[in-house]
Amino acid sequence: MNFIYFIFYIIIIYFFIDFVKKNIKKKKNEPPGPLSLPLIGNLHQLTLLPHRGLTRLADKYKGIYRIYFGDMYTVVVTDFDIIKQMWVNDFIKFADRPKPRSCKSWSNNFQNLGLSDLETWSKVHLIIVSSLTKTKIISKSATTIDEQTKSLLYYINEKCNETSSFGSNKKIIKTFSLNILMEILFSKKLTNNENQNDDATEFVKSVNSVFEYLGKGNLSDFISILRPLYYFSGKGFEREFKYLMDILENIYNEHLVNLDTHNPNDLFDQLIIETNGDKEFIKNVSLDLILAGSDTITCTIEYFILFMINNPVMQERLYKELLDTFGNNIKFISYNDTLKLQYFNACLKETIRIKPPAPLGLFRYSRQDSYVGKNNEYFIPKNTMIFQNIFGLYNSERFIKDCSLFLPDRWMNNKNEEKNENDQDFNDDLMEKENKDKYYQKLDKLFNPFSIGKRRCPGEQIAKVEISIFLCNLFYNFKISNPNENGIIDEKELFFITIRPKPFSMKFTKRK
Ligand code: HEM
Repeated sequence: MNFIYFIFYIIIIYFFIDFVKKNIKKKKNEPPGPLSLPLIGNLHQLTLLPHRGLTRLADKYKGIYRIYFGDMYTVVVTDFDIIKQMWVNDFIKFADRPKPRSCKSWSNNFQNLGLSDLETWSKVHLIIVSSLTKTKIISKSATTIDEQTKSLLYYINEKCNETSSFGSNKKIIKTFSLNILMEILFSKKLTNNENQNDDATEFVKSVNSVFEYLGKGNLSDFISILRPLYYFSGKGFEREFKYLMDILENIYNEHLVNLDTHNPNDLFDQLIIETNGDKEFIKNVSLDLILAGSDTITCTIEYFILFMINNPVMQERLYKELLDTFGNNIKFISYNDTLKLQYFNACLKETIRIKPPAPLGLFRYSRQDSYVGKNNEYFIPKNTMIFQNIFGLYNSERFIKDCSLFLPDRWMNNKNEEKNENDQDFNDDLMEKENKDKYYQKLDKLFNPFSIGKRRCPGEQIAKVEISIFLCNLFYNFKISNPNENGIIDEKELFFITIRPKPFSMKFTKRK
């Protein structure tokens, strides 16, 4: 009995000390923040949709506040000027990433692109940027995106003939975005054939499990007392990860045998040339690009389709813009063509605004004590985890009026733009109150879904090209609706580092 009391007192003392430690001010000018609980800190306020929990806190504590993410002292920034100050002007002070135990093995002990510290990152980043911008690789990416788009449209066309509604977003769009990355990286792809059974299929299965695992997060990364539990919770993941690395190793060996140094066939070849065949490096950055690049693109495309299904009047307006610009007889819309489409680009921006694929970016970590803010009024200690609340910037009435409504028109900064009489125009209200130009400047200034500064997303161009080409060609050729005629598809998101819609069904009808 005495022993039980003893343990009980130890726990109470531990909780008490932890509570005091978390809530005592480190310095006078630390950012404001809510009370933090022992053990979990403020995790209870984040709920299952952390970007929304953090945005609720931003409405109360404003542009910069501190919380405890478990035991990790964390600063959340929902203020564009402070993000710019940290990511651009003071880049070196905030260039690192945190190092969760659960990411140690898949990032090769944090030596990859996405999770490395500034010193390693500078070298890795240089090689990746140099490889991605080689003419051969740019032209391979362009051809791959065109081919994969045509192939998916062909598949949808075939299926349209068989039945009026089929499938769900879940498989075909993910397969599409993964295929493009796998083709660019190592010239392999999946088909939509359920029976396909080869390296590519196994690779995708493993990528999905690794992504789901990382997306769910691991409490033992952030709550020190749970750290020993990682041994059990991380086991399955480590197995899956090893399997993935073995497949990448086979692909690497194939490439080494067939390599023509004067004529690299894909990014793997190019990286072998640039790094003198550094196998571990190549395996790790490939995984980086696949993990960071496939879900973000899939989520954007899925949400765009979902909003067009739920807003058929807007879908018709988009189709009209496509017809007015290209007539009804062109074979394929190229990326340069998509840039002419004001309404399409407004719908795309509005989709990304309301459902930013990476709502909290990728977490950063401070390398030294610093002061930030207009008058450097906020103190951020060394080793602080930092979230840039991209979602909060786009989804708070403090910055954007009627922020929960899907209103592409808010991006139509053109007085001559023909208005569809069925579209509600909520902007007019705001225009009367505010100078119109200022309003648009403010919107554009806020809108940086790929982040800013030297460590912003390296996949931005691929993402823009892939998403725009696919969506424009899709809506030029098909009308998409909900097979359940009277229903509206649920727009609520699921959080896995990225945000995605729940699986939904689509009905495709040929336009011509
Ligand atoms: C709609 C699509 C995408 C969005 C919205 C997006 C957004 C982001 C954001 C916000 C970051 C964090 C940057 C920071 O810390 O400041 C990031 C990092 C990253 N993204 Fe993307 N991304 C997208 C697509 C892609 C694609 C297609 C690829 C690969 C081909 C990619 C590869 C990466 C990598 C490797 C990083 C880590 C960069 C580093 O640490 O240096 N992303 N992305």
